[in-house]
Amino acid sequence: MLLALSTWCDVEAYLERSKAIILPIGSMEQHGPNGLIGTDAICPEVIAAEAAAEDPDILVGPTFSVGCAQHHLAFPGTMTLRPSTMIAAIMDWTHSLRRHGFERFYWFNGHGGNVATIAAAFAEIHAERSLAGPDTPLTQLSLRQRNWWELPSVMETCRRLHPRNEGAHATPSEVAVTYAAYPDQVRDVVLEPRVAPMGSFGDAQDYRATFPDGRIGSDPSQATVENGREIIQTAAQALLADFRNFADA
Ligand code: NI
Repeated sequence: MLLALSTWCDVEAYLERSKAIILPIGSMEQHGPNGLIGTDAICPEVIAAEAAAEDPDILVGPTFSVGCAQHHLAFPGTMTLRPSTMIAAIMDWTHSLRRHGFERFYWFNGHGGNVATIAAAFAEIHAERSLAGPDTPLTQLSLRQRNWWELPSVMETCRRLHPRNEGAHATPSEVAVTYAAYPDQVRDVVLEPRVAPMGSFGDAQDYRATFPDGRIGSDPSQATVENGREIIQTAAQALLADFRNFADA
């Protein structure tokens, strides 16, 4: 069940059964010459949608699709939030849903660059409650952050499908997931060099100078619709198990 395709009556009825919600969270940033800019938002969104299709009794919220991507800003199309803006937005999303009775928030992440900021947002939410003191009536609140590629058996599947040159950014696995979601967007691009360099970076100019086409260590020309379908299936099953465990805790 998707929040955007629900009525308020549906949500009221859902809250009688569950206080938990999945919130996909990603980024709008370049993913090399054959990867879509929305990759990090599309991946958790389609995996969560697949899970919701299998179990209509879980609720998936809208995708938080712009994250922390300052280091990709030297490539056209990339958008970013400052960490402080993102923290404020995560807090407002959470508190909006809390007002209705949601107590368990499963932020399903698609971008490594978001991890620290999501953790900081959680710390802000907990700090508000702690600072309010013991006399303030507080409802239960549980926050979880999970990266889709770290769910059980997902990494193994990605490694089996792409044993070499998965790399660190614009990976064949994440590009494959987007191709499976949008087969009409598959790009046939010659990558030069075929395998991108590895290394570290600082700001956006530094990143583009070190990684001229945007990829880090990867060969996403391996990405196929078939591989993407298998990754989505594996990840959706793992998400269902992990979310049910979280919702029932
Ligand atoms: Ni990515």
